[in-house]
Amino acid sequence: MLSGTATPASEITRKVGDFGTQEFVAKRGESGATASLKDAFRDRFYVGTAINRAITTGAGGLRRSPEQVAKDIAQVKEQFNQVVAENEMKWALIHPRAGANGYDFASADAFVNFGLSNNMYLVGHTLVWHAQTPQWVFAGTNPPPAGVTNSTARAFANTNTFGTNRFGRGGFGFGPYTGPRASREELLERMRDHIHTVVGRYKGKIKVWDVVNEALADGGTNVLRKSLWLEIIGPDFIAKAFQYAHEADPEAILRYNDYSLENPAKRHKLITLIRSLQEQKVPVHAIGSQAHLNVSTGYEEMDQALTEMATLGLPIHITELDVNSAQGGQRTTGADISSNATTTQGGLVSDADRKLAEAYAGLFRAFIKHEKSVKVVTFWGPNDANSWRANGKPLLFDGNNQPKPAFAAVIAEAKKANAVK
Ligand code: G3I
Repeated sequence: MLSGTATPASEITRKVGDFGTQEFVAKRGESGATASLKDAFRDRFYVGTAINRAITTGAGGLRRSPEQVAKDIAQVKEQFNQVVAENEMKWALIHPRAGANGYDFASADAFVNFGLSNNMYLVGHTLVWHAQTPQWVFAGTNPPPAGVTNSTARAFANTNTFGTNRFGRGGFGFGPYTGPRASREELLERMRDHIHTVVGRYKGKIKVWDVVNEALADGGTNVLRKSLWLEIIGPDFIAKAFQYAHEADPEAILRYNDYSLENPAKRHKLITLIRSLQEQKVPVHAIGSQAHLNVSTGYEEMDQALTEMATLGLPIHITELDVNSAQGGQRTTGADISSNATTTQGGLVSDADRKLAEAYAGLFRAFIKHEKSVKVVTFWGPNDANSWRANGKPLLFDGNNQPKPAFAAVIAEAKKANAVK
């Protein structure tokens, strides 16, 4: 088991069942579930969820009434022993402005307090990402040389042309940055200040950090995605970020996090990147595999992916698990917000509940098979109503906090495995 304390579930008692195995006997919680994920997998890995500001503060959310949020909170406490902030620690939210007063810790502090007071294993997401980073971070402090206007400076700089229409271009109201750029030294100093301040503030409390998020290129032969981090600093922006995070909290588990690692080509890029970091003795301690999947991804693909990733010798954390049940969602396993909007149109696959249950059962069989490597499994939201792709109904609980057949299928996999342990 990992270091750190997993919450003992007070409402759940275990007894030795007829097969000499652990049975889970539980009072019915808010969800009506008669078992909890955190207890079912207690001896194998943490089971966690992303949570948002509505849950950590108890306030009504954009899409949830205060009553619904109260049920979400009860469900998070009942089912999970690990949490990560879905948005609140992204640069644009925690560090929106330059200068001494540029940080805004209120929502991140609420997240940390929620996790600590519920005795949960805390993960921080995310320090360096091409998305959700304010424009000022990339802007040069020196004016353009005399006679060069901002627009000519823009042309000189061959400024940011992100290759895709990922939400990384903007989001939270920020467009792509096209002005005069910071120097390498300037940007490294901003990155160092950001990482030292944020990681330092939660030192000893947040046990795991997503240090660099989604730096790999999706297609083509380039290993790294085109981003302002890469263009201004160079490929060593990744090593530098890990170095700064390690300085700020030498005990924290530092994670490289990316999506579509079930895709062999992208996975090979991951292996190339991590091997190179390991050769340079960069303190990268875990692989984060997001696992934004669809119902056609099952045991075989996950088994293959975990087998290959395990050759790196690092713990593997499944960081953002969800399984899209939408018809259009069957074409992609990407994490792109804009393409996600199109692929969740057109209704659910027929017999969606059964297919979702089969997919989840296969995935958890693979996680259990690889339990020596898989140390954390985090769902990207506690239930369908909280999901970034709610229309795809991708989680184990529905929008009324009720367990779906996929929940029973996942618990059944745990029971099967516990029976032979
Ligand atoms: O909070 C504002 C609100 O004030 C405003 O009125 C509203 C109007 O658009 O936007 C709200 O912000 C949204 C935010 O989620 C909170 O709901 C942003 O527009 C929206 O872009 C943002 O999306 C998040 C996305 O990352 C981009 O940061 C999703 O919630 C979040 O689930 C998603 O998570 C990412 C991981 O961080 C990295 N891996 C992929 C994963 C899924 O895309």
